Amino acid sequence: MSKVVLYMSMSVDGFITGPDDGMDHGLGVNGERLHDWLRSGGVDPRSHRPVDGPGATVFDELMATGAVIAGRRTFANAGGWAGDHHDGVPIFVLTHAAPDEPAPGHARYVTDGIESCVAQAKAAAGGRDILLHGAAVAQECLRAGLLDEMELQLMPVLLGQGRRLFEDMPPDHTELQLLRALDGPGVQHLRYRVRSAG
Ligand SMILES: NC(=O)c1ccc[n+]([C@@H]2O[C@H](COP(=O)([O-])OP(=O)(O)OC[C@H]3O[C@@H](n4cnc5c(N)ncnc54)[C@H](OP(=O)(O)O)[C@@H]3O)[C@@H](O)[C@H]2O)c1
Repeated sequence: MSKVVLYMSMSVDGFITGPDDGMDHGLGVNGERLHDWLRSGGVDPRSHRPVDGPGATVFDELMATGAVIAGRRTFANAGGWAGDHHDGVPIFVLTHAAPDEPAPGHARYVTDGIESCVAQAKAAAGGRDILLHGAAVAQECLRAGLLDEMELQLMPVLLGQGRRLFEDMPPDHTELQLLRALDGPGVQHLRYRVRSAG
């Protein structure tokens, strides 16, 4: 059965972007360092796949997902991935109001909430996992009890400012179970199971 898995690169002080993230620089000022794990051990130039073992493992898992859910800010800042995040899998973009122009390629806007968005993604994923992108949508999933796992790339930097992954969360009793910890060059890959409080 499909799991909803958040993939996110994060600084040690909890930021997923530097300040002033936007369409020109999706990870904000100095935020590109968060994606160093994709390059630091070397990269296959054709596939952009990291060469180091842990990086390749996480990259392969990410690329094996059968659908993507993205918040509209992530989608916009990434140029909508030109309509194809990977392998033509469907992309569900959560927004309160869809733009007039249709979403490009394999993307579609979802305006009736996170539960519907997850249900549509699961129906389309063919039993494969669902890749979740964006802090606001991750928080929405967490609040709704719809986030199954988190794959965090913990980068050894302090950004000090930017978008925090969990900054808007109220106190709750979510418990995380560490499923896997992999050491890559300049990164720790941490996979957690999310146990929402009932
Ligand atoms: N470090 C990393 O690995 C990584 C990975 C992915 C993304 N990012 C970065 O993270 C930033 C985006 O994260 P973010 O948290 O600011 O934004 P986000 O989660 O990508 O998108 C937020 C938007 O999603 C829509 N939304 C959220 N909850 C909704 C709900 N319940 N119902 C309807 N629509 C809802 C709203 O769109 P509308 O305003 O249109 O209604 C909201 O403005 C980007 O800069 C991106 O580049 C970093």
